[in-house]
Amino acid sequence: MAYKDLHDKPFEENTIAKLEIFEDYAQAWIPTFVMQNVSSICIFDFFAGTGYDKNGVAGSPIRILDKIKEQVISIFQRKVKVRVFLNEFNTEKFELLKKSCEEYLKINDYVGQAIEINYFNEDFENLFHKLLPIIKDFPSLVYLDQNGIKFLSEKYILELEKMRQTDFLYFASASYLWRFGDSREFKAHLDVEMSEVKSEPYRFVHRSFINQLKKKLPLNTQLKLYPFSLKKGANIYGIIFGASHPLAVDKFLRIAWKRNEINGEANFDIDDDNLKKQRSLFGNQPLTKIEAFQENVRNKILNKEIVDNFQLFGFVLEEGHLPKHATEILRKMKSEGEIWFDGKFPLITYENVYSIKRKISYLVLKK
Ligand SMILES: C[S@@+](CC[C@H](N)C(=O)[O-])C[C@H]1O[C@@H](n2cnc3c(N)ncnc32)[C@H](O)[C@@H]1O
Repeated sequence: MAYKDLHDKPFEENTIAKLEIFEDYAQAWIPTFVMQNVSSICIFDFFAGTGYDKNGVAGSPIRILDKIKEQVISIFQRKVKVRVFLNEFNTEKFELLKKSCEEYLKINDYVGQAIEINYFNEDFENLFHKLLPIIKDFPSLVYLDQNGIKFLSEKYILELEKMRQTDFLYFASASYLWRFGDSREFKAHLDVEMSEVKSEPYRFVHRSFINQLKKKLPLNTQLKLYPFSLKKGANIYGIIFGASHPLAVDKFLRIAWKRNEINGEANFDIDDDNLKKQRSLFGNQPLTKIEAFQENVRNKILNKEIVDNFQLFGFVLEEGHLPKHATEILRKMKSEGEIWFDGKFPLITYENVYSIKRKISYLVLKK
């Protein structure tokens, strides 16, 4: 498969969207650990590119440094060591990467003092296994901004699955899967049930891909995977976010829903929610993604499958929604006399469930 070289031209809109999601996550991730006074945190960019595009727009490594720069005061105050690992296989690009970062750190020398930066000019395949012990030992954020799809194979996903304090963001071309998923070459990397993928419309390909990946995980896995599809013309790419910790998932979902308040999952109207809203004006009531989720929550509460905020918060994350979607429906149910809970709010937040561990029950009054 011939890959396009991203750096001989300006970044496209899609690439910028991907980079913004990457950097938004770094922005949310860094303070989580800095505030916990951990000794070291690690950020890995295994496919780092050159640092900037042709027009000087920052790529992932410079954006990582920018996010560290934003929080450098607390990093110093809390004496946290930030270790950055940047890799680029192509030697020419590697030289540019090093130059870009060194220049950045010369201008922002205090960022240089706050971090330990490590450059690699290696094939991901070898480097990943070399750096695995570090990923394992420290809170780590891992970017896997590959071209195509090759490095999403089971051997890497299953290693990442074992980590308990690692969050990762993969980039994948779901269109490649659609086109080449049945080929022997592709199956050697990842054996996906293409009949299942193709039983859904093409626009869901990235979502289906993640469903296939989930099937490769151990039954008792704690790893959660979430998609964010990026469409450009006929091609669909996407981010796959993975983490085991509920706080990490909560943070990613907030970023995803901020980018798209209708579906939190794509840079386009993946579920035709706008059309559904129009149809509902004419009397039919097809439910939008948020409405369908709220209806689901309502039924689970009335059927007592979900009885308190601890269970509900878990369900919200599992379904890739925001706590506020569930909060809205619970408050409505309370005001309509279907349920009762103590206080004004149903306490569906990470803070209540995991930090202060405040459990409240939802009592069903009428079904
Ligand atoms: C999608 S680009 C990454 C772009 C980068 N994140 C940025 O923001 O500019 C993928 C990069 O991975 C590099 N690459 C390709 N195969 C690789 C491999 N086996 N190991 C490491 N890097 C590789 C390519 O040269 C390319 O620069």
